[in-house]
Amino acid sequence: MKNLIRIFIGATSLLIVLGSCSDMGEPEVLLPQMHVETTSIDYSTVTIGSPQIRQIQIINSGEGQLNGELTLIQDSSVYGLQPHGTFALLADDTLNAELTFTPSAEFTYVGQILISSDDLGNPEHVIGVTGEGTALPVPALTVSNTSLNFGTILTDNSSQEQITLSSTGNDTLLISSMDFDLGVYSVDIITPFELIPGASQLLTITFQPDAAGTFNGDMTIVSNSPSTPDVVSLSGEAEVPVSYAGAVQPVWNASCGGCHGSNGGLNLTSYSNLMAGTSSNGPAVTPGDGANSLIVRRINGTTGGLMPQGGTALSASTIATIETWINQGALDN
Ligand code: HEC
Repeated sequence: MKNLIRIFIGATSLLIVLGSCSDMGEPEVLLPQMHVETTSIDYSTVTIGSPQIRQIQIINSGEGQLNGELTLIQDSSVYGLQPHGTFALLADDTLNAELTFTPSAEFTYVGQILISSDDLGNPEHVIGVTGEGTALPVPALTVSNTSLNFGTILTDNSSQEQITLSSTGNDTLLISSMDFDLGVYSVDIITPFELIPGASQLLTITFQPDAAGTFNGDMTIVSNSPSTPDVVSLSGEAEVPVSYAGAVQPVWNASCGGCHGSNGGLNLTSYSNLMAGTSSNGPAVTPGDGANSLIVRRINGTTGGLMPQGGTALSASTIATIETWINQGALDN
């Protein structure tokens, strides 16, 4: 009896379920429902030529198939929509579309995406699109000099020149190395270093020759600038200093002393006496200017009577040595 009742109750409830189903009558019309969350896309600023992608989701949250069309409206061709055109979405399905922005100029580009559908409650959805192109950031190096001349110096001296490196691009400049093909040149900075746009760096280049000669070299600057490598040509000459004690005083002693001793007038018995000059015609030596020094003009005969008076002229090489000693500063060396 208990079991029968249970079966009865079970059958009754089954009937109720069936009954409610058959009550629906007419075939149900399943309606689609388009749902798109995005109403605008702003790419902000994008580097010219580099694509940026944004996603758009079209969801059919209804019960019937959604039919529609995706259309991109733009004046230029910087935007690309994939997929586009007609689409059909089953209930509960999602369509993922991608909008790509590839600006071609420094310009603000606007456009629209139109999504039309057979969802009568939402037949058209509009997405506004905007994005701005910006110039590609490029580092640039400007070097103040393409060449540096250190002049002529003595082998035991050094000479310095300055140059300025300027970061003239719109991206950070990286100086990765500064190399010299000759060891007599060096720079007072350690690489690598960075210069932000607008910044500059003063450099001191030193010429320190180890021997006499002409030194024509290059400084090669390697950086991330499109101009790399930047080359600065360097030139300098070095002379062995002429020794007064070793090469000049002996000439006076041998050829002039007899008449230019301590008996008045130009005294050539020592460096200090020579530099004291003549009694009435000023200095005998003008340091740095051998050719115009009185003593050189007298020994090469370009002014007054040739010295040594009444004797044989000094050799051309002896005259050149004395002139060089004066050009080098007439040092007491
Ligand atoms: C034989 C003697 C004699 C000898 C050697 C001689 N001089 Fe003279 N020097 C003179 C006399 C004298 C004067 C002054 C007259 C004149 O200016 O010509 C003079 C003048 C000069 C003057 C110009 C001085 C002034 O006050 O303007 C210079 C410079 C000079 N000698 C350099 C030399 C040199 C350098 C030598 C050696 C290479 C030399 N002399 C050798 C006799 C000599």
